[in-house]
Amino acid sequence: MATEHRAPATFDWQGRTYDAEYGHVLDSGESLVDLLAPRPGERIIDLGCGTGTLTAQIAGRGATARGLDISESMISQARRQYPGVRFDLGDAGTLPADATHDAVFCNSALHWMGAPAEVFGAVFAAVTPGGRFVAEVPVVGSLSDLRELLLRAWTAAGILGSPPPTRWHLRDPQVYLGSLVDAGLTVAAAKVWQRDRRLNGVSPRGWWSQYGPEVFQGLSESQRADVNAALDDLAPPEFPCHSTLLRFLAHRSRATASRHPSDA
Ligand SMILES: C[S@@+](CC[C@H](N)C(=O)[O-])C[C@H]1O[C@@H](n2cnc3c(N)ncnc32)[C@H](O)[C@@H]1O
Repeated sequence: MATEHRAPATFDWQGRTYDAEYGHVLDSGESLVDLLAPRPGERIIDLGCGTGTLTAQIAGRGATARGLDISESMISQARRQYPGVRFDLGDAGTLPADATHDAVFCNSALHWMGAPAEVFGAVFAAVTPGGRFVAEVPVVGSLSDLRELLLRAWTAAGILGSPPPTRWHLRDPQVYLGSLVDAGLTVAAAKVWQRDRRLNGVSPRGWWSQYGPEVFQGLSESQRADVNAALDDLAPPEFPCHSTLLRFLAHRSRATASRHPSDA
């Protein structure tokens, strides 16, 4: 049922403004689609598809692409933008465990999801033997400037302690790579790379309100206003937004239907 997969009321993505203001995660998306190398007729799921830009690119290469995302706002926007592509509301737990898909694709969304072991187990069950899993995800070391700025704004606003943890997880790349193997997926290629950019046109205040509104939840209205004012005061224009990204291509062994290669 759709409501089972709705993002918590305290948080949702803004599908209508995402592409213009926050679509930088798509900067490297096309080359990730190249790594996926979709072929005509293949059945491919874009997990955490957002507003569907990359799902549509996959479909544009002839595959039967389907987007899956937990956010109603993102799915609505994806459907508006790409009416010819199928988009469903759901999370990794709703991936069909039918081993009929040629690939699962995932750009900049794994860090929002729960334990990689569970997500990757669901991916394994969705793809055919030999099926691919292609993903990119920010890992530990990312966004240090933005986190440091938030801490400084916290202090400037006179709030004791540190900002609470975000809903997203900047994990060690080894956590992802080890979980792939544990799920029965063979890593064919993996790299960690750095992307340095600026928050062009988006202020750190706007960035935190989109990507980390939960850090403000325990604050009073006036504390929240003070932190936001400090974010504006402390941030130079074109604030840096550094990402350390893990990109990988994995596949399910052709030899076994088991989740564990050692069982083969
Ligand atoms: C940074 S956006 C990336 C969207 C898209 N892949 C892109 O490249 O533009 C992260 C997306 O992950 C989705 N998401 C977060 N947690 C999810 C989950 N557990 N299951 C499915 N989608 C999720 C969010 O709703 C959001 O659309």
